Order: sequence, then C-alpha cells, then structure tokens
Amino acid sequence: MAHQIYVDEIIRPCNFEVADDLNILALLEKEGVEMHSHCRAGFCGTCRVNLTRGEVHYPGGAPLACMREGEILPCCCEPTSDIEIRTY
Ligand code: FES
Repeated sequence: MAHQIYVDEIIRPCNFEVADDLNILALLEKEGVEMHSHCRAGFCGTCRVNLTRGEVHYPGGAPLACMREGEILPCCCEPTSDIEIRTY
C-alpha cells in the first residue's frame, strides 16, 4: 500500500511500501527534503515534527524521546495512511 506524504503543505508524492523498510525521515531525505536529525533511533527528539493529518506506526515500539500531543518522530515511524506533517 503506497501513501502520500505532505510536508509543510507541499505535496511530496512519496510511495511508501512496508517492504522498503524506510522510516519517514529516510523516505523524505531520499526525496530531497531536508530534515533535522541526530540519533535517528527515537532517543533525542531532534527530528520531532507535528503530524497534522493521518496515522503513523512505530514498528520498533514506542520511542523513548518525549513528544507533545500531535508530534511524531519521523526517524522511527512509518505512515499507515496518507499523512501531512508540519516542520515548524
Ligand atoms: S533523530 Fe533522534 S529521535 Fe529522531
């Protein structure tokens, strides 16, 4: 199942297949989107963005970094629907 990812109201037609084994951060970087990151494993919170639409899944379980309501850590989650994120 392919999903669309929208970043800051810009359409990024990324096809995300579960078999690709790519998290949202890696997928967006592959598409040329610059994202903040550090640990890339759910510990530091540097990659934190707001999820304004859609659902994500953390295949490795809940990450350790603190998140506010509506935030996600794209370094360690996958979209389970079309999603929209806001990076500011
Ligand atoms: S880069 Fe550290 S939590 Fe995502």
